[in-house]
Amino acid sequence: MKKGAMASLVPLVVALLLCPSSSLAMASGAGPAQWGKKLDPHFYDQSCPHAQHIVASIVGKAHHQDPRMAASLLRLHFHDCFVKGCDASLLLDSSGSIVSEKRSNPNRDSARGFEVIDEIKAALEAACPATVSCADILALAARDSTVMTGGPGWIVPLGRRDSRGASVQGSNNDIPAPNNTLPTIITKFKLQGLDIVDLVALLGSHTIGDSRCTSFRQRLYNQTGNGLPDFTLDASYAAALRPRCPRSGGDQNLFFLDPVTPFKFDNQYYKNILAYRGLLSSDEVLLTGSGATADLVKLYAANQDIFFQHFARSIVKMGNISPLTGANGEIRKNCRRVNHA
Ligand code: HEM
Ligand SMILES: *[C@@H]1O[C@H](CO)[C@@H](O)[C@H](O)[C@H]1NC(C)=O
Ligand SMILES: *[C@@H]1O[C@H](CO)[C@@H](O)[C@H](O)[C@H]1NC(C)=O
Repeated sequence: MKKGAMASLVPLVVALLLCPSSSLAMASGAGPAQWGKKLDPHFYDQSCPHAQHIVASIVGKAHHQDPRMAASLLRLHFHDCFVKGCDASLLLDSSGSIVSEKRSNPNRDSARGFEVIDEIKAALEAACPATVSCADILALAARDSTVMTGGPGWIVPLGRRDSRGASVQGSNNDIPAPNNTLPTIITKFKLQGLDIVDLVALLGSHTIGDSRCTSFRQRLYNQTGNGLPDFTLDASYAAALRPRCPRSGGDQNLFFLDPVTPFKFDNQYYKNILAYRGLLSSDEVLLTGSGATADLVKLYAANQDIFFQHFARSIVKMGNISPLTGANGEIRKNCRRVNHA
């Protein structure tokens, strides 16, 4: 890993040595321009030295008040990054020409934690005005949420900027649905530059947090349209789920995604899947849908350290999806609104 990192640095160092700064500034396309786009963990070291501490302390307080909040914040980073890249488009409310992504199928009555992001943003604006982007807040809050629930830590590359628009259509189309087939899910990850290892590792996020009845009801009653439950769902687990998730009604009733250790970021999620107790169809298909994903489920169920290593690597990769950098986008003052609407 270290060797790979060194190898990728070599061209940058060479480019720096060969190009005077004026030609660096003029350059376009690949090479130096590309280098300018790279996120950097030290991005706020001078401009807002306490940024990471401010985020962590508010995430910690919110998690203390509401033990589900860590899961909700982790999910926001995912729902941001899968739609036009990690640009905080998710956080915009509807106004003027903007139709909020909060209205999309994956987010409506489901995505939460926006008030915590507002509180973090207000504290950062007080400490260092117009400096820290909402997209970076989401990336940092996702890391802190994972750590606070017992999961791995990682260094968060920073320097994302915020979008001036949203895409409710992208939110509907690009974020996988819980009843998507495994090939569809794999395709949606591939479109973001994420592979099968990224998919299986990142879905380990479902070791914390909740799902509504409506996200898995189909499995309990009529999975394939033949009036039968999903045969890949453990029958006694299905029976335990039905009273609070009836054929009709109770859409918003909440269930732990991992009922064994619901507030702990661990590898229990994969053990559940091996016992045919993955809650969502999209969870269980990792085992039943392909040998390659099944092998990863078994690996992570057996070895939490490898899961943690892969998770940390994959979420950094997810956080690198098409960020706005340089002069693109803006640093929103309020995460819910563009600066000059
Ligand atoms: C195939 C990909 C995925 C699908 C189909 C999916 C689907 C879902 C669904 C349906 C829920 C429950 C929502 C509700 O009923 O309100 C959920 C919750 C959650 N998802 Fe995913 N998800 C996927 C990938 C991910 C990824 C990559 C992450 C994070 C990196 C993530 C993090 C979470 C978390 C933490 C929750 C719980 C949120 C809370 O309690 O507020 N998911 N997901
Ligand atoms: C998946 O769920 C959506 C929303 O409930 C539904 O409209 C769609 O028909 C389902 N797709 C399949 C293949 O079951
Ligand atoms: C199951 O779903 C199919 C197709 O979506 C529908 O035609 C059928 O009536 C449903 N059966 C039951 C028992 O709900």
